[in-house]
Amino acid sequence: MIRVTIDGVGQEAMSGERLIDVINRAGVKISQVCYHPQLGPIQTCDTCMVEVNGQLVRACATTASAAMGILTKSEKAAAAQREAFDRILSNHVLYCTVCDNNNGNCTIHNTERLLGIEHQPIPYHSKPYEEDHTNPFYRYDPQQCILCGRCVEACQNVQVNETLSINWEDPHPRVLWDGGSTIGESSCVSCGHCISVCPCNALMEKSMLGHAGFLSALPKTTLSGMIDVVKGIEPETGYGAILKLSDAESHMRESRTRRTKTVCTYCGVGCSFNIWTKDRHILKVEPLDGPTNGISTCVKGKFGWDFVNSADRLTKPLIREGGKFREASWDEALDVVARKFREIKAKNGPDSLAFVSSSKCTNEESYLMQKLARVVIGTNNMDNCSRYCQAPATQGLFRTVGYGGDSGSIRDIENAGLVLIIGSNTAESHPVLATRVKRAHKLRRQKLIVSDLREHEMAKRADLFLHPKPGTDIVWLSAVSRYLLENGMASTEFLAKWVNGLEDYKKSLGPFTMEFASRTCGLSQDILKEVAHMIAEANGVCILWAMGVTQHSMGSDTSTAISNLLLITGNYMKTGSGAYPLRGHNNVQGASDHGAMPNFLPGYQSVDDPEVRSRFEAGWNVQLPSTKGLDNHEMIEAIHEGKLKAMYLFGEEMSLVDSNANFVGEGLSKLDFFVVQDIFFSATCRFADVVLPASPSLEKEGTFTSTERRIQRLYQVFEPFEGSRPDWQIIQEIANRLGATWQYRHPSEIYREIASLTPLFAGVTYERLEGFKSLQWPVAADGTDQPLLYTNDFAFPDGKAQLFPLSLTEPTDQPNAEFDLHLNNGRLLEHFHEGNMTYRNEGIREKTPDTFVEVSPELAEERGIRSGTWVQLTSRYGQVRVRALVTDRVRGKELYMPMNSVESPVNRLTSSHTDSATHTPAYKEASVHLRVLPEVGESPLPRINHRFGHPTPQHGVEVERKWKRPDYRMPGNGLVQIQTN
Ligand code: SF4
Ligand code: SF4
Ligand code: SF4
Ligand code: FES
Repeated sequence: MIRVTIDGVGQEAMSGERLIDVINRAGVKISQVCYHPQLGPIQTCDTCMVEVNGQLVRACATTASAAMGILTKSEKAAAAQREAFDRILSNHVLYCTVCDNNNGNCTIHNTERLLGIEHQPIPYHSKPYEEDHTNPFYRYDPQQCILCGRCVEACQNVQVNETLSINWEDPHPRVLWDGGSTIGESSCVSCGHCISVCPCNALMEKSMLGHAGFLSALPKTTLSGMIDVVKGIEPETGYGAILKLSDAESHMRESRTRRTKTVCTYCGVGCSFNIWTKDRHILKVEPLDGPTNGISTCVKGKFGWDFVNSADRLTKPLIREGGKFREASWDEALDVVARKFREIKAKNGPDSLAFVSSSKCTNEESYLMQKLARVVIGTNNMDNCSRYCQAPATQGLFRTVGYGGDSGSIRDIENAGLVLIIGSNTAESHPVLATRVKRAHKLRRQKLIVSDLREHEMAKRADLFLHPKPGTDIVWLSAVSRYLLENGMASTEFLAKWVNGLEDYKKSLGPFTMEFASRTCGLSQDILKEVAHMIAEANGVCILWAMGVTQHSMGSDTSTAISNLLLITGNYMKTGSGAYPLRGHNNVQGASDHGAMPNFLPGYQSVDDPEVRSRFEAGWNVQLPSTKGLDNHEMIEAIHEGKLKAMYLFGEEMSLVDSNANFVGEGLSKLDFFVVQDIFFSATCRFADVVLPASPSLEKEGTFTSTERRIQRLYQVFEPFEGSRPDWQIIQEIANRLGATWQYRHPSEIYREIASLTPLFAGVTYERLEGFKSLQWPVAADGTDQPLLYTNDFAFPDGKAQLFPLSLTEPTDQPNAEFDLHLNNGRLLEHFHEGNMTYRNEGIREKTPDTFVEVSPELAEERGIRSGTWVQLTSRYGQVRVRALVTDRVRGKELYMPMNSVESPVNRLTSSHTDSATHTPAYKEASVHLRVLPEVGESPLPRINHRFGHPTPQHGVEVERKWKRPDYRMPGNGLVQIQTN
């Protein structure tokens, strides 16, 4: 710490801290138009000029040193600030009263008020460009753009999509997309970073335009007339009077605009933001204070909310009668559910019923669902969709380090020396998390290794891209581990102090020589050795993995091999290191954490542990079943075997997302009684006997737990859509009709009960989670959480981790002469899963209207396929018809099909083979025959899809180019005439 003075008053600062941060912390008001703390100094606006030792400097770009005297209001500094702002106004018309950005947070408006500038000596110059409305979600108005470059910095160095730049050398600079394309045809992924940081109305969400202001919806000609009137009276009245009027209008908006904090409903990154609404209209999503994401979002979190107000929402319970559904009242439907559950339980016993919780719903709802199953019905037949993706990763971590969660935070991933991504299309499946890796790689030279079948964005950016043969990751991981151990590159100190089982593990590595790995994986020994050396030399290694690893018959073992590798290199127990299984759904971590599993009560407390059971039995006043229940996979088998008669499932599209969809569908149709609770009439509803209309995340309160074990609160944005109800209320109604006496009035009361029974969440309270506050479990009773999971010990009785020996088995469903192509599958950036929510968004549909199968250029040439050719894919289990997309993202005889289709779901082609330890389907082990059909259509991806764009990477805003312009000079050097009030 050092001391400086600001306008003569002493202030503590850190040596090297930016002056602007010191000034802001001291509460001294100073103009700073281009500065955004999450972007760092951009230095384009010059409004933050201060005087230090007689010199004018930019406060955002100057760092504090001991005894520095900073003058923010000296004559020199004030004149420079005003001159700089005056230049900004030459690019921007102040028509605040009729502007949709006049919401109290417009940087231009507020700076104008702060500086008290009454008149504009440098006149406004219009630019020779039109507004660009070609993106479905936002528009750019060059006439209002002040060229601050915040958007460019955000796009180049935070999102790292590298779409935006400014043509500083042009007589009329402006923001460019892909160097001069329309927005619609550019590489823009519609993540929204640029719009979120724009300090004015130059970039705006279309959902704001004409909606936010009282007068902004007026016809354009009327608006232009009013703007001209304002410009006309400005010389006479000055800006002061005009600003007073716009301030009044802005205050009036507060009465009808609500800003509510929520957590994203899509992927497991856990972005949180404020949603601005006017009645049921979403004005915009404003990310700023989220502990995970700050200013970041992806297209789904920023713009993917139309589904909430879709006309397709279920509004009435449905009961199947005579092969058809009829509408029913809530009372009638709930009575039927309770009666049928009671009858089936009485006739066939509690284990003839099964319950499936939703990874999209809240922790409290998963908790209630498992309580209904265990306490009210008396069965452990309880699962959630982590069975389809994450269970093997959890298993690998249980075996080796004890807890089934990320061992650190996204910040650790950002700070690692090396990031190794295996089987994860991170830029599309976990977009905001990927931005942190891309940023560290671009700006900090973090090393990046990617192992994947597809050369996706992260693979293209990687320092080393491995393309192993399908299903062989376990082999190269084990071979690299053996090589590290044998060549003195393992962390012997860490192993001696913290790890058990080294000798057995070493023996198990016997078969995994470099030669064997090279042959099996199709990777050269040199590459594998390079991987080993990069790991050994890195200052902290984080390994990220996802469904490309877990959805294999060896998913648990490969996950274990990852953790073994981290253990032998000492990459646990320190920041910037560790294991990061990337959770797919927003609350897939939380659903398992809160007991929606057949073998665990909440907090991973085993159902067969008498001590655990007796604690829950005392709390719930009931005797609990003691043997593991059925998981999702076993449930389907049990239906086919006639053992399972009834099922209650909420917020889960089981008939499409479970593998071998035909087999699953047949199973579901055999149930005696099936209840599906959802927000839409999903494909799974077709098999239901009763359908109950539920509410999505924006219509309820509760908590979600993200991939980094971060528990966050969501607040209710809207009342439940007419006729629908929050899932926790529906579950409670059913439980009470079955004899329970639950009286939860709010999810906070449910969480109080969870915390009282679950040591992992002992200190979690709604108060500690208020607003944007969050906690990363385990949370001690005093509220202390653990961003870094292992600090003093591992979660085993002796506190040591365990190396877990592995052996090799063959992948299932291998190609042969008939089924000669390997079929991979996964997510797309724009759609979530089968697309039930994202297809209801016009903008997303316009850019990405359909699914497709990716075909390599080699295979396309061999079979006479081009983008748009219809093909029929046939596997040993089913058939789909789909259009081809020829791309070099895939190679040779490997195909890739995104999941986003209800008509042609990829799971008609996948098998019922599973990972032996967890029963997670081996979705990624599928072989197909491809038949080229005579029809050739349009390319399934339109030209306006971002994948056809041409990014323009550069080092941020490149303000030096602006400073080289002949018409640029630093403000404050010349004599300027500024009129003030
Ligand atoms: S990708 Fe598009 S939306 Fe995202 S920051 Fe860049 S230009 Fe803006
Ligand atoms: S569009 Fe970009 S450069 Fe223009 S004002 Fe907005 S953030 Fe600044
Ligand atoms: S990255 Fe994930 S959590 Fe964040 S906005 Fe996108 S979908 Fe939502
Ligand atoms: S805030 Fe310092 S130059 Fe813009």
